[in-house]
Amino acid sequence: MITPTLPAGPAGPPGVSVPAPTTAPVSAPVVVPASAPGAGQAWWRNAVIYQVYVRSFQDGDGDGIGDLAGVRERLGYLRRLGVDGIWLNPFYVSPQRDHGYDIADHCAVDPVYGDLAEFDALVQECRLLGLKLVVDTVPNHCSSQHPWFLAALAAGPGSPERARFHFADGRGPGGALPPNNWRAMFGGPAWSRVTESDGRPGQWYLHLFTPEQPDFNWRHPAVAEEFDRVLRFWLDRGVDGFRIDVAAGLFKHPQLPDSPDPDADERTRDSVNPLAWNQPEVHAVWRAWRAVCEEYTAKDGRDRLLVGEASVPTPAEQAKYVRPDELHQAFFFHLLHAPWDLDHFRTVIAGALEDIAATGSTVTWVLNNHDQVRTVTRFAGGDQVLGPARAAAAALLMLALPGAAYLYQGEELGLPEVTDLPDELITDPIFHRTRSRVGIRDGCRIPLPWSGGRAPFGFSPEGATAHPWLPQPEHFAAHTVERVLADTGSFWHLYREALQLRRSLPQFGEAAVRWLESPPGVLAFARGEGFVCAVNFGDGPSPAPVASAPLLASGPCPPGVLPPATAAWWIHRP
Ligand code: GLC
Ligand code: MG
Repeated sequence: MITPTLPAGPAGPPGVSVPAPTTAPVSAPVVVPASAPGAGQAWWRNAVIYQVYVRSFQDGDGDGIGDLAGVRERLGYLRRLGVDGIWLNPFYVSPQRDHGYDIADHCAVDPVYGDLAEFDALVQECRLLGLKLVVDTVPNHCSSQHPWFLAALAAGPGSPERARFHFADGRGPGGALPPNNWRAMFGGPAWSRVTESDGRPGQWYLHLFTPEQPDFNWRHPAVAEEFDRVLRFWLDRGVDGFRIDVAAGLFKHPQLPDSPDPDADERTRDSVNPLAWNQPEVHAVWRAWRAVCEEYTAKDGRDRLLVGEASVPTPAEQAKYVRPDELHQAFFFHLLHAPWDLDHFRTVIAGALEDIAATGSTVTWVLNNHDQVRTVTRFAGGDQVLGPARAAAAALLMLALPGAAYLYQGEELGLPEVTDLPDELITDPIFHRTRSRVGIRDGCRIPLPWSGGRAPFGFSPEGATAHPWLPQPEHFAAHTVERVLADTGSFWHLYREALQLRRSLPQFGEAAVRWLESPPGVLAFARGEGFVCAVNFGDGPSPAPVASAPLLASGPCPPGVLPPATAAWWIHRP
């Protein structure tokens, strides 16, 4: 739903002041289309969801690890920030070999994080505060400690227990080579060999991530039945939706053939092996899950959300995941990988808006998450001042766009990535499998600083003796919640004001983006009647597209000027 760039010319409504000839006026007001085909006005369409990485959010019991009690304590904080809901990373029973993405019991809370009673209390409190609660599901794989996998190991080759996973005999003499040449996303072969009960080396099993995360065989009906039970278990407890881990996974090519480019996944750290991901059968699963959600909505009138982490090669492929009877939304990850570059931003944003238009879904924007280097560091190019300025500008840009936005805990504090953890403290399995720091994720998962001048900065309760599970650097003192709340120029206040304006301005909602012609280095667009957002990607100041003082800006922004690495919002008052 993009209108093409406006030609320069006198098309603006009367009274719009245009400070420089290089800047086109805002186009005449457009009537906002109600919504895309097939979609209602469900809460998730334009929601801002805050991602809680439970392990690092707030420690309630003093063991140095965040937990559900900690989340409960801080719900007021999240309400005050003004988000619409929260997504919790996995808190289920897990040996924590991939910090909860290796699940041993999908229907129980890991004791490190609390228990079901604590979860139920959290559901109630979210409801009271008007916060939606989205939980993670991990259907592609489980933990090697899951009872099904333990039973498969015990039962031996050819057993029904092994049929729920991908077990196969090896190749070569004595079956000593893996059944195919695929490599795992987190390094090493995608197959590991088991020792059979007689003590001899036996079959191999498939794991697209670590050996502690065996992949389910979704061609076995018991797997789909089990996940139907898991979904209903959490829906019955009151959740509003699910974030679906590696939603392009689940099914593999039925013959598990060799890949012509076996280490593509490992090289790109993405799901690109066309034999291992994005098989057509997966869509039937999402249709079934959607039907379960609709069933609950029919009972109580509450819309549920399925949001998928579906990393697929083309936008057309991604659009298939959000057809009206499949997932409600799929994360749009191109901003996570975008360099600080106007053409790049504009291309991926325009592409996303165009691609989504026919699906009935909305774009689901993400600048940060628990798997990526934080924007303050990513956009810095080594410059300590530019990094935060650009990160704040990018956030204001994202929050001006139509669709949903996911914020990752700590981005509202302007937290940088921690890049100097000593080797011996790194917990990410990627590091241990590849012996390389490339792509490791501990640096964006450091426990949040809440208050005070020293670690644990209020992350653990007063008097706790356990250290946070990853050490917090001293410079986190400048980013505590206490500090940013007291500083009206902080990231926190920018996010809060942006969220308030999103809720209150009629130009938000479903209003389409209209690109505005703008000076070199500046990206500018309008939405609805009179709303303008512009970002200066260049190195020097630029004329602002609107002469009056901005409504909100990511940095100091005198009227008529848009400084470099700055984004601003305006309302034209004709
Ligand atoms: C997803 C998660 C990531 C996890 C992986 C395996 O990409 O976001 O954290 O390691 O899946 O479950
Ligand atoms: Mg704890």
